[in-house]
Amino acid sequence: MSNPVMLHEAGETREAVVPFEPKHYGNLYGMSGFSEGLLATHFQIYEGHVANTNSLLEEIAVLTKEDRNPVASDGEARRRFGWEFNGMRLHEYYFENLGGDGSLNEESSLHRRLCGQFGRLESWKEDFASVAALRGVGWAVLYEDVRTGRLFDVWVDEHNVNLLAGGRPLVLLDAFEHAYMKDYGLDRKRYIHAFFANLNWDAVLARSGGKESNGFSNGNGRVMEPGAGPGSGHGLRHSWSHNGLVNR
Ligand SMILES: [Fe+2]
Repeated sequence: MSNPVMLHEAGETREAVVPFEPKHYGNLYGMSGFSEGLLATHFQIYEGHVANTNSLLEEIAVLTKEDRNPVASDGEARRRFGWEFNGMRLHEYYFENLGGDGSLNEESSLHRRLCGQFGRLESWKEDFASVAALRGVGWAVLYEDVRTGRLFDVWVDEHNVNLLAGGRPLVLLDAFEHAYMKDYGLDRKRYIHAFFANLNWDAVLARSGGKESNGFSNGNGRVMEPGAGPGSGHGLRHSWSHNGLVNR
């Protein structure tokens, strides 16, 4: 897990961990509904996750090299790794799905799929917003199940509880208080509204595009099982509503 590489420096060969580099999202400054102060603080929090992820990788590498009992020594570091890594990566998805104009192309496959499952785009937004408004700190995530293409609005506690195995995150909203309190106080609903207004659907489509172009959706809101594309012999099998199977 430590991803070691061999470094050759000054005639010495040593093992080193490849650190993650923080990405920069200064392009988001000036976005309506998000003050510079709020964004600057949020970027610092993200960079803290990157730094802590790198520290944990180093810590685990050292403990592993010392050949201690892994249960007794690096167990805690390995448990913390998921929290820090996800804190890093979830923020990257979040910042990257901001900075847009909130418009989703009605001709896009994802628009049709959302309407296929939720009835209309506004209904999906209402569902996602209700998840984002849940009490607690964490994330609202629109997930795409990679096996079936089904879409789910999911609440993730903190950074590491309730992530869907095999789920591809498409839309992510940070519901930690640091994401909005500076600008909105306790009014998370206004923050959610500002989030939708700045949602960068191009980034979201890029996340799901490979899937859509690979035949998981027929473009009519219906979903094909993997391998059920043209020529597979069994074609379209299911259509899913928000709550489950509605017809065959
Ligand atoms: Fe955050």
